[in-house]
Amino acid sequence: MYAQMVKSTGQAVKTRAEMSAEEGRFQDRIDAGEKIEPKDWMPEGYRRTLIRQIGQHAHSEIVGQLPEANWITRAPTLERKAILLAKVQDEAGHGLYLYCAAETLGVSRDELTEMLLDGRMKYSSIFNYPTLSWADMGAIGWLVDGAAIMNQVPLQRCSYGPYSRAMIRICKEESFHQRQGFDIMMKMAGGTAAQKRMAQDALDRFWYPALMMFGPSDGDSVHSAQSMAWKIKMNSNDELRQKFVDQTVPQAEFLGLEVPDPALCWNASRGAYDFSQPDWDEFFRVIAGDGPCNRERIAARRMAWEDGQWVRDGLMAHADKARAAAAGQEEAVA
Ligand code: 3HC
Repeated sequence: MYAQMVKSTGQAVKTRAEMSAEEGRFQDRIDAGEKIEPKDWMPEGYRRTLIRQIGQHAHSEIVGQLPEANWITRAPTLERKAILLAKVQDEAGHGLYLYCAAETLGVSRDELTEMLLDGRMKYSSIFNYPTLSWADMGAIGWLVDGAAIMNQVPLQRCSYGPYSRAMIRICKEESFHQRQGFDIMMKMAGGTAAQKRMAQDALDRFWYPALMMFGPSDGDSVHSAQSMAWKIKMNSNDELRQKFVDQTVPQAEFLGLEVPDPALCWNASRGAYDFSQPDWDEFFRVIAGDGPCNRERIAARRMAWEDGQWVRDGLMAHADKARAAAAGQEEAVA
């Protein structure tokens, strides 16, 4: 089974014969569907892959607040403002659960943040696109949270216990986010001609960036084969992208909006939609740091990190004092 899982780089995932006894036992646990917990033995590559994926996921949740926060003060009604505020707060919570899950692997939140700020870690490409109108809040909830759920529901069954448990909570909240986005789209698409145009424009701008969220085509996905063997990923990038298209096209039809893809058509023999691929050159440019908002996003994270230094210093000083006081009390008792 593993011999067939050859990475696109040409590097094969270890065969059973190539695994050490410990690695073989570990793979048996994975294959039997057991959860791996923080204190269990794990191959170094498994640990590193999880730190990369969970850290990138956590950063995405935090950076993902920025494009939507842009519209909190401009939401059209008090109710919409309260809902958007709650959604953006949920994303902060998701980031925190995920940083905690990553910390169980022996990396600190400070290290993860530093890796984000100096470019050693990524965050999702989607958050490098600007939010130009209120309809973008609808498109983000519908498409971006919709794509996130498509990717994250299977991750509830992933092999690493803390990550899979974080995903259960996160997915519940993401499904509320997706519905609030679709609700905004229904309102806009069913509104005045100008509102419907805004909804269509938002769909036009977010369709291909949403498809990119699933990662490069399977042939260019360097990590998929090993991550799937370890059940860190449950599906390939192309599988999930196809499921997302199949789920979303009827929703666009229901809204009376047009998916911006002239090649989109139902393929009865496959039982799935044929669709155009995103511009992969653009994707690789964006993840390399050269998208429309990359610099702005990182500058915002850097400012928040630097502005928060005094809070972290204060907390550390308080913890040191509390530790010293506790040690003093112990000495007095002895
Ligand atoms: N954005 C940025 N980088 C991406 C990417 C994307 N959409 N898709 C892939 N990449 C990067 C990978 O990180 C990898 O780079 P690296 O080696 O420097 O880390 C490279 O492109 C090759 O891609 P692979 O397919 O080999 O990478 P993975 O196997 O890690 O698959 C993934 C990519 C499908 C995104 C996977 O990491 C994953 O499932 N992650 C967990 C979910 C996640 O992070 N979602 C982010 C969105 S969360 C969110 O949107 C918040 C919500 O509130 C809306």
